[in-house]
Amino acid sequence: MNNKIETLDEFIIKTQSSIPDSSGSFTRLLRNIGIAAKIVNREVNKAGLVNILGVAGSTNTTGDDVQKLDVFANEKFIETLATSGEVCGIASEENQEFIPVTPPKNKKPQYIVVMDPLDGSSNIDVNVSVGTIFGIYKRKSPSDGPVTLDDFLQKGTDLLAAGYVLYGTSTLLVYTTGHGVNGFTLDPSIGEFCLSHRNIQMPVSGNYYSVNQGYYLKFDLEMRRYIDHCSDLNLRLRYIGSMVSDIHRIMFQGGIFLYPNTRKYPKGKLRLLYECYPMSYIVEQAGGMALTCKLERILDIELKSLHQTSSIVMGSKNMVLEMKEFVERYGAVNQ
Ligand code: AHG
Ligand code: MN
Ligand code: MN
Repeated sequence: MNNKIETLDEFIIKTQSSIPDSSGSFTRLLRNIGIAAKIVNREVNKAGLVNILGVAGSTNTTGDDVQKLDVFANEKFIETLATSGEVCGIASEENQEFIPVTPPKNKKPQYIVVMDPLDGSSNIDVNVSVGTIFGIYKRKSPSDGPVTLDDFLQKGTDLLAAGYVLYGTSTLLVYTTGHGVNGFTLDPSIGEFCLSHRNIQMPVSGNYYSVNQGYYLKFDLEMRRYIDHCSDLNLRLRYIGSMVSDIHRIMFQGGIFLYPNTRKYPKGKLRLLYECYPMSYIVEQAGGMALTCKLERILDIELKSLHQTSSIVMGSKNMVLEMKEFVERYGAVNQ
């Protein structure tokens, strides 16, 4: 039996050649994301000790309270990426506008990073799991000029890589470059992410459904019918309030995650660029599916603005297909 531990850095270097167009720059960028994740992890773990908890007193661009740890995570990721020399622009859920990065002399970085630096911010104060979501694109504009809004308005299908970090009972980094999904658990004793979940395959069906049942009456008829169906089947309802954590369960145990449009959020709440695209890319790579409540494939939706939101239903393939049947059967009533 081969017991050799494979670290994230070793894995990234080993698999570099399978990524078309890949360069040392892309490899270094992925490694830098791993470093930023470790810095944020350290703060998440000691949050209670250093009085970093609590509302920072501002609201983010989609109107949610910003917790202090959101601000910290946002700053650390931006700082690490901006000084890496591999990134020409960053867009974050916490910033209204994209951030152009001035490259070091003699460098023309090609990569754009999009991120939700801290997902599940309402969980911070109560010591429940939070996460980070990221996506990597290649810029479209010429590399000798500044980045433009169009560099960021790319669809999910244009992603080169996407991943999430789950700061849970242990800290995990899960990512894909379009060749399967792999998970790495942080070993705190050596400070390294170590390969722990190779080629993750989501079960085609499962026993869990994950939705904010509190909004049930605000959902469209077809979604209510589908949720009733999940309940009739005695599926187990789990809702952590951090899509990273909720999807992570489904990645391994199978199930379905729904954040439908509501009366309060007629176009859905979750942001395409920072949440829906990267998570859908990972879910599809693991064999799952991700659609809107109007049955469009999430990764194909055209992006018109940085903070555009969408309804989303994602998870085990057979369960998403069953949800689709409910929309086809009951959706017309609502048109
Ligand atoms: P964030 O903390 O980055 O704002 O994201 C929270 C998101 C998502 O992760 C979660 O599934 C959802 O918002 C929870 O929203 P509700 O409280 O409306 O259910
Ligand atoms: Mn989020
Ligand atoms: Mn967030």
